[in-house]
Amino acid sequence: MELMEVIYKRRSVRFFTEEKVDKDVIDTLLNAAVQAPSAMNNQPWAFGVIQDKELMKKISDDSKAYLLAGIGSKPFLEGYRQLFSNPDYNIFYNAPVLLTVFARPEGPNPAVDCALAAQNIMLAAHALGLGTCWIGFAQMSFNLPELKELLGIPKEYSAVAPIILGHPAKASPEIVKKDPEILFRK
Ligand SMILES: Cc1cc2nc3c(=O)[nH]c(=O)nc-3n(C[C@H](O)[C@H](O)[C@H](O)COP(=O)(O)O)c2cc1C
Repeated sequence: MELMEVIYKRRSVRFFTEEKVDKDVIDTLLNAAVQAPSAMNNQPWAFGVIQDKELMKKISDDSKAYLLAGIGSKPFLEGYRQLFSNPDYNIFYNAPVLLTVFARPEGPNPAVDCALAAQNIMLAAHALGLGTCWIGFAQMSFNLPELKELLGIPKEYSAVAPIILGHPAKASPEIVKKDPEILFRK
């Protein structure tokens, strides 16, 4: 697939088949991730891979409870109250894989570097016929001491991009993208 086609056709995927994703494919995506640019070439990223559905369900349940409890101080989440209260809603949409990009505290803005690595994962996955969706709802769970301890994530690392991955079960809806807002052309 041509790069421009990959960029234009990638859409977030929230419906997956039961088909597993091979370790080799996951490794291909992680190797694509580390090709991203990073400030001062710090490459301040690290990755976690979860394929254990029970663990993903636990992280989903914990995240929903955490998000619900925080709605008071984050009014932009009010519209999600019903969704977070729904026991059938899995924030990972029952995807077979959850890849998470973590930032080491190195360089001027490691989270930006990690977001670039995350985009590489999402574009490379699309080029390989796989679907992804960045799950911001899971970010704070990975930064809680309990989960860090459970998964052996060093204290100083912070989660930037939890990304679900799998074989798409159907085409994602079209998303209208706004034209670029051009502030100046000199
Ligand atoms: C930082 C970030 C956080 C996101 N968090 C979620 C999320 O928690 N759950 C979800 O279903 N989609 C999430 N998304 C996906 C966006 O909803 C999606 O990218 C947007 O609607 C545009 O659709 P597209 O990816 O198909 O272009 C997130 C995307 C980004 C970049």
